[in-house]
Amino acid sequence: MKIDTSLVVLATVSGAAAFWRMECRGRAGLARIDPLVNPGEVGQHVHHIHASSGFSEKATYDDLVNAECTSCAVTQDKSAYWAPALYFNHANGTYQAVEQVGGMLAYYFLRPDANNPKSGVTAFPEDFRMIARDSLRRNYSIGGQDATKADPEQSLWAALGQTTQTDLEQRAVGFNCLDYNKAPEGSLYRHYMPDKDYLDANCKDGVRIEVMFPSCWNGKDLDTKNHRDHVAYPDLVMAGGCPEGFDVKLPGLFYETIWATNAFAGVDGKFVVANGDEKGFGYHADFIMGWESVDYLQSAVDVCTNDSGKIQDCPLFNIQDEPTQRQCQMKLPSAIAKEKVEGLVGETLPGDVAIQFGPEPATNKNPGPQTTTVAVPTVSYSAGISVSASGSPVVGGVFKQSTTIPTPSASAAAFSAQAVDAPASAVTPAPVAPAALAGDYEVVRTEYHTVGNAVNMVIVKEAVEYQTIATTTVTVQAAPSAKARREAHAHRHRRSGRARR
Ligand SMILES: *[C@@H]1O[C@H](CO)[C@@H](O)[C@H](O)[C@H]1NC(C)=O
Ligand SMILES: *[C@@H]1O[C@H](CO)[C@@H](O)[C@H](O)[C@H]1NC(C)=O
Ligand SMILES: *[C@@H]1O[C@H](CO)[C@@H](O)[C@H](O)[C@H]1NC(C)=O
Repeated sequence: MKIDTSLVVLATVSGAAAFWRMECRGRAGLARIDPLVNPGEVGQHVHHIHASSGFSEKATYDDLVNAECTSCAVTQDKSAYWAPALYFNHANGTYQAVEQVGGMLAYYFLRPDANNPKSGVTAFPEDFRMIARDSLRRNYSIGGQDATKADPEQSLWAALGQTTQTDLEQRAVGFNCLDYNKAPEGSLYRHYMPDKDYLDANCKDGVRIEVMFPSCWNGKDLDTKNHRDHVAYPDLVMAGGCPEGFDVKLPGLFYETIWATNAFAGVDGKFVVANGDEKGFGYHADFIMGWESVDYLQSAVDVCTNDSGKIQDCPLFNIQDEPTQRQCQMKLPSAIAKEKVEGLVGETLPGDVAIQFGPEPATNKNPGPQTTTVAVPTVSYSAGISVSASGSPVVGGVFKQSTTIPTPSASAAAFSAQAVDAPASAVTPAPVAPAALAGDYEVVRTEYHTVGNAVNMVIVKEAVEYQTIATTTVTVQAAPSAKARREAHAHRHRRSGRARR
């Protein structure tokens, strides 16, 4: 039996697993277009759209790759990346678009399947399509867990029966509260949109919405009817092992978009995702492969493995500057070319999308402005409790890094901050953690914390003890030296064949 002991290692950006971070500073469009869900017609809700200018309500691979430009940094990437936009509903009923800050980042994590690490990572095939998560979901329902509580340690998910695809999918979203003066939150930490009071009180730099895509593929279907059945999550969402029948490991796509919710601080009203979702349980994201060629993408997967994650460190990528990325715009279909989607948009969300609270799934019908009473959410959304007097973060609350070693607490992992070098790029690289570091500890969870231009990698480790008396100790290690990281890398390889607990 495992006795929970936590310790934390903070490291600067570096890690054994490779990745690159596609920067998409330009937004090709903001429009009700969705070639997966509404092919050939106007989409239900507004999406922010990035990469190929060839995007349309019926875009094919050829349309994407033959388009004039991409709103991303790498000219060989004319994929389609899209996800719902965010709106603010003023107290008087008027909706206003929330500004998107800095475009979008699409991370490509190159982690192999932990069950079969030798098989590597396979490039997306031509025209491959998928949706991450379910737009119609309106509740959080993992083993009776309250969405406002922090996830259990990843090492416990399987034992708790929390590795079904619907469970993993619900954990594949993060609403990251940004305050650059405070310790950052971990990626995929909070799985719902904080309410307005919470945002005003805690998130003075806005919110970063993160979505992780499934990265295990059945190896044959480019798409399926619901655009999700051909893919699956590995059992730790961002990492872990693929389920049976989904043996082909794809790059792990992860979108990050920052929204200036802080522009509405002190303004009466509430935030709503464009699909009529106040809580974000139905937040989703979409992708169509539009890389120059599959062979090219496979070369990038094999070659672009510099630990920095910077696209500049990949010798294959041709990089265009930000102004060029920003100039790249798609052509809107005439039916929606004039639709008001930016600034003040009127008394309903674009497309007359109604807010549907759940907990039952939303309908796809867009019933229009609702005049009747709607069901209230069954989950209560109190703001997370912040750091306790002793400085220890409280589970379910917002954790905060302190500059001193916090008092050990049985219920919470302890965090300690350490200055990290800001990378030269204007934006934040995401680190990828080694699976284990040397020592008598097992890594149970890794988190990525963004502070301004730097990323902290937090590795939560757990000591293995075989006694029945619970004792808790908290140790905080300094960042591993480059040597330790190399050892960690080696260690990971040694462990790679072992079955996960
Ligand atoms: C509602 O309030 C917003 C913010 O004050 C304002 O810009 C907008 O014009 C108002 N709408 C109406 C219909 O009065
Ligand atoms: C990774 O990129 C850095 C520059 O950011 C460079 O100094 C280093 O040599 C590269 N490493 C490898 C293994 O190519
Ligand atoms: C929660 O959402 C799921 C997925 O939409 C749905 O199947 C389930 O019925 C919902 N639960 C309740 C209590 O409505």
